[in-house]
Amino acid sequence: GAAELGPYRHYMQKEIFEQPRAIGDTLEGVEGITPELFGDGAYRVFQEIDNILILACGTSYYSGCTAKYWLEDIARIPTQVEVASEYRYRTSVPNPRTLVVTITQSGETADTLAALRHAQSLGMKHTLTVCNVATSAMVRECELAYITRAGVEIGVASTKAFTTQLAGLFLLTLALAQTRGLLDEEAEARHLKAMRHLPVALQAVLALEPQVISWAEDFARMDNALFLGRGLHYPIALEGALKLKEISYIHAEAYPAGELKHGPLALVTAAMPVVTVAPNDALLEKLKSNMQEVRARGGVLYVLADADTRITSSEGIHVIRMPENYGALSPLLHVAPLQMLAYHTALAKGTDVDKPRNLAKSVTVE
Ligand code: G6P
Repeated sequence: GAAELGPYRHYMQKEIFEQPRAIGDTLEGVEGITPELFGDGAYRVFQEIDNILILACGTSYYSGCTAKYWLEDIARIPTQVEVASEYRYRTSVPNPRTLVVTITQSGETADTLAALRHAQSLGMKHTLTVCNVATSAMVRECELAYITRAGVEIGVASTKAFTTQLAGLFLLTLALAQTRGLLDEEAEARHLKAMRHLPVALQAVLALEPQVISWAEDFARMDNALFLGRGLHYPIALEGALKLKEISYIHAEAYPAGELKHGPLALVTAAMPVVTVAPNDALLEKLKSNMQEVRARGGVLYVLADADTRITSSEGIHVIRMPENYGALSPLLHVAPLQMLAYHTALAKGTDVDKPRNLAKSVTVE
């Protein structure tokens, strides 16, 4: 009811603004990195496995796609991510040394549960879930678990569940890196410090809402949008496009920026805004040349640029500057303006933000 909404107009908006609290709660009590954060016996399991298979649906699938970059980069573990409804029905090559990781807000998504059971039936006994509901079927059926503390999520479009999943998956990455001798005390302390500062950093990003609202006024008049990202932020571009589709009904798709010239560039006109997630990472220079390609075709750019990039607003380039560059954890910050963009675009269009047509919060039947 209205009382629970407090100053917010919709649950989705409330949940976006709850993220600093949700991430803080999800990390509460984490004094140091240890496999036991994921349950008794996790150390032995982490030693026995040599690759990871992530299974999930929807927004949870995109948190898995983000984690793949961390797991391969920081923990050096070969990682596959697959949509649960695909994995459960295809012939795959099982490996008993796989850690099967499911990611699910509800813990009850039919395809994700079926994919877990399918993996188990193929002889993969090491399973771990990152889940927001401790009493769910998924938590009961997995060997190990990390319970996120997003709290109840009501908006059909997932927001705080996503960022808390990322927090849990980053901890998993660090714990696996540690088991492999790849995380010294200095690195552990540095990562923990960055994680503990996330709520404050995210608060500063949420304060960008007025700038996002001015973008949303433009988007509400569009029929299509393209989202670009590279590396760790490609899944964030995918999630931004998904949010916009789900609640504003604007057709949106995401591409890794390097693929632009292999197709989507043909669609670029002034009528298709191009959102670019531009953290200051090793790929920034390449991303800038992708942006030039868009401008050269008359495309209009909406850029989420990091504090220390020199990208500035000019004709056809709208820049929102992120307060700080957050390194490996940057996806948790860059997703927030995209969530707000979808929210305010939907608001401007007058759609039913919390209950978009044809979609359900939890898909418990196939
Ligand atoms: C539905 C919801 C999404 C969610 C997906 C997976 O499609 O609308 O927000 O990401 O299910 O749900 P899960 O509970 O497994 O994370």
